[in-house]
Amino acid sequence: MILTAAQVEQTDAPIDWFPNDHPRVPAIVGGPLSGNEIPCAECHALNGAGYPGSADLAGLPATYIVQQVMAFRAGTRHSAMADQPDTTEMIMVAQAVTPRQLHDAADYFAKLPRKNWVRVIETATVPRTIPDKYGWLDPAPGGGTEPIGNRVVELSDDIRRAFLGDDHVVLTDYAPPGAVARGRPIVTTGGGNGVPCAACHGVWLQGTMTVPPLAGRPAGYIARTMWDIRVGARGGPSVAIMRAQVGRLSPSEIRDVAAYLASLNANAPTPKK
Ligand code: HEC
Ligand code: HEC
Repeated sequence: MILTAAQVEQTDAPIDWFPNDHPRVPAIVGGPLSGNEIPCAECHALNGAGYPGSADLAGLPATYIVQQVMAFRAGTRHSAMADQPDTTEMIMVAQAVTPRQLHDAADYFAKLPRKNWVRVIETATVPRTIPDKYGWLDPAPGGGTEPIGNRVVELSDDIRRAFLGDDHVVLTDYAPPGAVARGRPIVTTGGGNGVPCAACHGVWLQGTMTVPPLAGRPAGYIARTMWDIRVGARGGPSVAIMRAQVGRLSPSEIRDVAAYLASLNANAPTPKK
């Protein structure tokens, strides 16, 4: 689809760059909506891939999507980082959405195929970055490189196109050397408490009817949300099960688990494309 710069500027709704990629889009997802309501795809993209600050929703179980939005609404899910602007926005959306709209949105995102939109690169040196106002990392204006240290550095391949709604833009997760190999045994054995993650998250870590997938999801989101679960920023009975799993993992173990999970094929056992 070809849009003029003026059309891009004027639209209030996410631009549908690839209309053949997804089923019919309900208004709550793609807009336009009345008043101050923001369509889900503005932050989660029409293919559900999301952005470094939001979350990847494609193919998540519909019941799980509804349950999480209700948790944001009820105040049992927030961010461990005080006043995290992205999460505050999600909470406002959750408070405004009607049951009918939420049903439509959950049904839409649950039907979307999961894709491999993350690549993991292990390296000791990363592009120099600066945090933007939402706390995501952007390449530093002067360029250059810096040591990765103990971080995962998550960068969009083209943040400008991603912001304009091009949901084919891929993320790169830079991880310290050896992170993927260190994360693997924690995931396969359960990190010392004997319950492998696959026991609940599905044999290929692609999720079940009620439990979310982990394979091929961005390391930034996985690490952030595991920390939120660990410190109690995510509450409720189903989270208690997970807290028993992640409660003992150190920050560097969480980072390695996240790098390993991001490196997995979202559609195992078919080959990674
Ligand atoms: C203004 C931006 C914004 C809009 C609009 C938005 N979200 Fe979100 N959403 C977020 C952010 C940011 C997060 C991550 C919050 C966090 O982890 O702290 C999130 C997380 C989620 C999650 C949790 C995913 C998981 O794996 O646990 C679900 C489910 C979700 N959103 C559903 C929706 C639905 C459905 C809509 C439309 C009704 C919507 N969101 C609209 C920003 C947004
Ligand atoms: C005993 C079952 C169980 C095991 C084992 C388990 N989980 Fe979970 N996990 C869950 C449930 C249930 C949820 C959904 C929690 C909720 O409702 O918020 C979850 C949620 C998560 C989430 C949040 C996903 C999202 O979309 O926000 C991550 C990340 C996660 N688990 C990682 C792991 C990892 C890594 C392991 C292994 C070290 C693991 N889990 C082991 C049951 C389990």
